[in-house]
Amino acid sequence: MEIKHIATPIKGLNLYLNKVVSDPRGSYCDMAPGGTDNPLYADGIKHIHASIATHKFVPRGGHYHFRLKENFFTLSGTALWYFYDFDKNSPTYGQGYSVVLGYDKLGLDLGIPEYTIDRGAAAQIMISPGVYHVYFPLTDAETVVAGTGSLDYDAEDYDRTKVEDVPGAMESFERVKAALLKIESKGEAEERMESIMEQEKPAKITQKIKAIIPAAKNNQQRPFSYNMNKHLIPLGGRPMIFYPIESLVDAGFSEIGIIVGERDSDLRKVVGDGSRWGITIEYIVQKELMGLGSAVMSAKEYVGEDPFIVYLGDNVAKCDLISIINRYFDEKMNAMLMLAKVNKPQRFGVPEIQNGEIVRVEERPMHPRSEFAVAGIYIYDSNAFRAMEEIDLSDRGQYEISDIHNYYINSDLKLGFEEISKWWKDRGNPEDLLEGNKFILENFVFAKGENRIDGEVIGNAKIDGRVVIGRGSRVTGKSLLRGPLVIGEGCLIKDSYVGPYTSIGSGSEINNTEIEHSLIMNGVNIYTDKKIVNSIIGNNVSITSGEDNLPKGKQVIVGENSSIKW
Ligand code: G1P
Repeated sequence: MEIKHIATPIKGLNLYLNKVVSDPRGSYCDMAPGGTDNPLYADGIKHIHASIATHKFVPRGGHYHFRLKENFFTLSGTALWYFYDFDKNSPTYGQGYSVVLGYDKLGLDLGIPEYTIDRGAAAQIMISPGVYHVYFPLTDAETVVAGTGSLDYDAEDYDRTKVEDVPGAMESFERVKAALLKIESKGEAEERMESIMEQEKPAKITQKIKAIIPAAKNNQQRPFSYNMNKHLIPLGGRPMIFYPIESLVDAGFSEIGIIVGERDSDLRKVVGDGSRWGITIEYIVQKELMGLGSAVMSAKEYVGEDPFIVYLGDNVAKCDLISIINRYFDEKMNAMLMLAKVNKPQRFGVPEIQNGEIVRVEERPMHPRSEFAVAGIYIYDSNAFRAMEEIDLSDRGQYEISDIHNYYINSDLKLGFEEISKWWKDRGNPEDLLEGNKFILENFVFAKGENRIDGEVIGNAKIDGRVVIGRGSRVTGKSLLRGPLVIGEGCLIKDSYVGPYTSIGSGSEINNTEIEHSLIMNGVNIYTDKKIVNSIIGNNVSITSGEDNLPKGKQVIVGENSSIKW
C-alpha cells in the first residue's frame, strides 16, 4: 500500500493519505500494514476507539495527552482539524496548524490546506504527546474517525483545555465557517438563478444541424506552430480547440467533424474520438490547405444537405449558441454570422452594415467600414458549397470565407447576424496567446469562481485567490500561488511565486522562481532568480541559472522566430 506523507509545521504531527484496495463491493483500508511492527506504530497499540461526530460545526475530540501517542483515521465526512503544540520542550511550542481533511471538495479560498480523499480511502493523522487536536465537521455527513493509542486508557493522561481557550482554534473555525456559509448561500442563489434562466431559454436546438471545426495545422502562430498544430496550444491549461468543442457539446451537439490536414496526427491523438465528451468526432481531411473556404468545402460530404455551423478551432466565444442557432431557423436565414466589436478590424473580415443589414464583407480591409469583425462562428446552408464553385482565389492565394459571405449577399439569400460581446481569436501574435489565456481563465476556468485543488499544497506553501492545481502536482516550500492561475498535472512548484494570469502545463517544474502573467506549456523546467513576466514558454523548454557557468554569460538555445528580452 502506497502512503502519501504530508509534513506539517508542528513537530510530531504528520498526515498520511492512504491508498486503499478497492473492488466493486467497496474499499479496504489497512490501518496497520505490517501489523504493530510498522514503524508508524513504534510505540505499540494499547487501545482502539472510534469517534463519530454527528453535527455540523460542533467540535469534537478537543484534548492532548502528556504521554500517549495517537493515530487517527478519518473514515467519512469532511472536517476542519486544528492542532496546537502545548509541549514546552518542543521546538514548535505555541504553533497552531489548520487543515481541512475529507471527502468533499469545499473549495475554501483561505490559504488553509485542503486534502480531498477519494471515496473509500482514508487520511491518517499521527499525533505526538503535547499536540492538542480538535475537529469541526463542515458538512452534514457524519465524520467518523477511528483511532489507536499507544498506552492503556488513563484518565490522568489528558489535558482537556476548552477549545475556546486554545490560541487560534476558534478564529480558524470561524473563518472557515463564514467562508462556507458564503459559498452555500452563493450556491443557492446561483442555483435559483440557473433554474430561472433554464425556464427562460429554450433548452434545445429545435432543428437538425451539423457542426464542423476547421483545425488544420498552419504556420500562423510562430514560433509555436512550427512543430505543433496551433489548435493544441494550451490556454488555461488545456488545448485551445477544447473550448470550441465544449461550446458545441454544451449546446447539445453529439457529432462534430474536425477538419485537419493530411499530417495532423497529433491533433487526432490529443482530441481523440470524442468519447471524453460523450460524443462522436469524425476527422475530415482537407487536401488543399488554401484558406477557410477550402476547409469548408472539404466538409461537403460530411454535411450533406443539412445546415451547419462552422466554429473555427482558434476562436473562443462565450455566447448562447442554442438561442443563436434557433434564431437562424426561426428567422429562416440562409446564413448567419457572429460579429464582435474590435479595436483593429483591419485584421479580420469586416462587415459593412446598412439599415441593419450586412451589404458586404471585406477581408482585411485597409479602411474598415465598421468597427466589427466577423468572428469565427458561422451558420450556413448548402449554398455555401455552391458559393465555392463561384469564387476565385484571393490576392493572397486563398479561398476566403468572406467571399462565401458575399456570395450569399449577391445571390439575395438571407444573411443575418448577431453581435457577441465575449470573444477571443488567435491572430497569430504570441501576445494574443497571453490575452487568450486570460480570457479563458476569466470566462471558462473560473467562470463560477471555484478553486480546484487535486494536487497537494504542503507545509508552508500558501494560496491566495483562485487556483486550479491538477492531479499529482505538489506545491511545496515557501511557495506562494496568487490566482487566477492554473497548474497542470504532475508539476512541482517549489519555493516559488506564481502570480495572476499564469498557466503552467503538465509535468513542469518551477523552482526558486518568480513568474507572473505567463503561459508555460508542458514539461518545462525553470530554476532562476530572475523574475519572469509576460512570457510564453513552449513545450520541454528549460530555463536555468547560468551564474555558475564559465565563461560567465547568458546561454541561449532558441529556435526560429523566438524573442528574448532580458
Ligand atoms: C479568418 C477569416 C476572417 C475572420 C476570422 C475570424 O481569419 O478570414 O474573415 O474575421 O477568421 O476568426 P484568419 O483566421 O485567417 O486570421
